[in-house]
Amino acid sequence: MEPLVPEGYTLIKNLSESPYRKVSLVKNIEDDKRYIIKVYDKKKIMENKSIVQSVLNEKKVLAEIDHPKIIKLRGTFKDDDNIGLILDLAKGIGLSTILQSHQKLPAELVSVIICQLIEIFEYLQSNGYVYKDLKASHVFLDKNSRITLIDLGMVEKLESGERSYIPAGTFHSMAPEMIDVWESSILNSGKVDQENLPGYNHNIDLYAIGVLIHELLLGKPPYGYLQAIADKEKRLEYFTKTREGINNDEQLELIEENLGKVLNEQQNNLIDLMNNLLKPNHEERLGANRQTEEIKQHSAINWYNFEDEAEYLDSFTKKSKCKLGIDELNDILSFVETCGIHNESDFADDEKLNEEEQKIFDDF
Ligand SMILES: Nc1ncnc2c1ncn2[C@@H]1O[C@H](COP(=O)(O)OP(=O)(O)OP(=O)(O)O)[C@@H](O)[C@H]1O
Ligand SMILES: [Mg+2]
Repeated sequence: MEPLVPEGYTLIKNLSESPYRKVSLVKNIEDDKRYIIKVYDKKKIMENKSIVQSVLNEKKVLAEIDHPKIIKLRGTFKDDDNIGLILDLAKGIGLSTILQSHQKLPAELVSVIICQLIEIFEYLQSNGYVYKDLKASHVFLDKNSRITLIDLGMVEKLESGERSYIPAGTFHSMAPEMIDVWESSILNSGKVDQENLPGYNHNIDLYAIGVLIHELLLGKPPYGYLQAIADKEKRLEYFTKTREGINNDEQLELIEENLGKVLNEQQNNLIDLMNNLLKPNHEERLGANRQTEEIKQHSAINWYNFEDEAEYLDSFTKKSKCKLGIDELNDILSFVETCGIHNESDFADDEKLNEEEQKIFDDF
């Protein structure tokens, strides 16, 4: 069935569908720009109280959050059967799409992505928000090396010292303390044993940043992807691995396989940052308890100019595209440019001719 489309918009195409919601690309008739709509089936979400809560919460959080690298809410709509969100279209493509075609990313690009992510998470944490679902498909990269974070469906605001017990997230990115919450929920038919569990706080997002570094640099998350959650044996094995933490010998082997025997400084720094974020004990993670400043001082990102990043990103992109840098980088940014659903404005700014160039055609 076609999704409900808000007045003043036309449907371009459906992008993804789950039993209770549809994500589609639409066009605004008035400004001729493309947007994303997320339409929820009221009856279906009513079957699960926590989904209703998360949808209402998504709208509230989107309205509160204002950051240039976090997707913006443009409006809401509803009829008797559905409720919907109208969102800006993120420029570029999801990192998961890049991983599907390129397997892994060069350390130069991973660093630039992680620097921007730290900035986003500093903003979220300083306002109390836990994001909970950081993964490659929720981070978009555009052809100018800028990222956008999408999907705020699981965000929760926690006061300092407060803990949450809501099972959330995606297994391959989940910190051990979130795994504990899930396991308790599975064992107690949806009820989490809050008395005997510590719950979780903002530190789960730091762990997920560590997972993303692992995935981008080494081609897969630390413990692979947990596909079959219903398979108890596989699930328990996966949970145990996550709780135990990285095995140094296995990691060395994987690094050698993907990056070679001799690493450059940037690769070494990123791996050190990654391991400091992937600590199973959440208090030991770099930047734990909303101290993102600690992460900014790490050698993997302390060179980044957080105050004036525009200039850095422009020259990084130019270098990559001129093939002055690394072929692999040029390749990925070109892939971003030619793949996915592009926002017209993504191309508009630098592909129009400037005044001088236009003059060439004056006599035509
Ligand atoms: N603002 C956006 N701009 C571009 N693409 C988007 C946007 N929002 C969603 N998408 C696309 O639709 C997919 C699903 O959207 P989203 O993650 O918000 O929904 P979801 O219900 O949480 O789905 P999932 O369970 O797959 O994460 C995204 O992975 C992305 O490819
Ligand atoms: Mg999502």
